[in-house]
Amino acid sequence: MSKSYSDTFTGPHMLGIAGLNRLEVISLLDRAEQFVALNRQRKKHQDLLNGRTLINLFFEPSTRTQSSFELAGKRLGADVINMAIQTSSIAKGETLIDTAVTLNAMRPDLLVVRHSASGAAALLSQKVDCAVINAGDGAHEHPTQALLDALTLRAHFGDLSGLKIAICGDVVHSRVARSNIILLTLMGAQVRLCAPPTLLPTKASAWGVEVFHDMKQALVGCDVVMVLRLQKERMNSACVPSSREYFHYFGLDREKLNLAKKGALVMHPGPMNRGVEIDSEIADDPNVSLINEQVESGVAMRMAVLASLAEGRHE
Ligand code: CP
Repeated sequence: MSKSYSDTFTGPHMLGIAGLNRLEVISLLDRAEQFVALNRQRKKHQDLLNGRTLINLFFEPSTRTQSSFELAGKRLGADVINMAIQTSSIAKGETLIDTAVTLNAMRPDLLVVRHSASGAAALLSQKVDCAVINAGDGAHEHPTQALLDALTLRAHFGDLSGLKIAICGDVVHSRVARSNIILLTLMGAQVRLCAPPTLLPTKASAWGVEVFHDMKQALVGCDVVMVLRLQKERMNSACVPSSREYFHYFGLDREKLNLAKKGALVMHPGPMNRGVEIDSEIADDPNVSLINEQVESGVAMRMAVLASLAEGRHE
């Protein structure tokens, strides 16, 4: 961990990939790469966030993002608390803004927010004095997911430039897709989107991507297939006739993956609906699946984001 780095990302917040430039992304990837190495050692601690306070404020369920931000903060020496939303005063009707302003009065340095409303993290960043990190806001952005995905890809391919990446599934409800499209195109990858029309925003073709409705066409020549979760909790009406039919046409199985480039790799941000958007045979195949590596990258990338934001806020 003695390597010096040129850290061009300093915040003041991490609200989305939109607004980051290529150098800022590269600086985070470089830094996270060092934390991957640290996290593989028996002693995983540094004191970069000693004396700092991190609050996790998750209004939506999470396994990966919340636990990795908690681990990231603790490995860097911060005091970390996870707000238990169900037993907080939100249950008595306290608003999001009042909650954030109350927590802000306790002088945290870093506030990690997940909320069902697009723009929630940006709104809070105007009300508090600390750095705000968007851990997912509605269908808008999930920036640290895209950054950890890029870290995972860079470990396998080196350069992201020129990679052909198919993002398949429930694009319309996916903040992961939005953040990834922005980041991957910024880094020079060629992005394809594949979904039934009911799961694609009408403006998708304006995002600098190729749009497909047939997965067998979309996967031809791809280096990477990124599969998205069917987000039933965000659907007002059924967007697909049945899970079984969806799997037949849009579920990633061996037969469809064989149409991609030889050696193509598979990603999924999790949690997975096995047998709906991805076959277990693919998800659990260590020769093609990067899913567990994505989780490992998540801790390292969140350490990089927290450390960079904290350094950007000198006392
Ligand atoms: N990928 C992701 O955000 O997973 P969690 O919902 O478990 O945090």
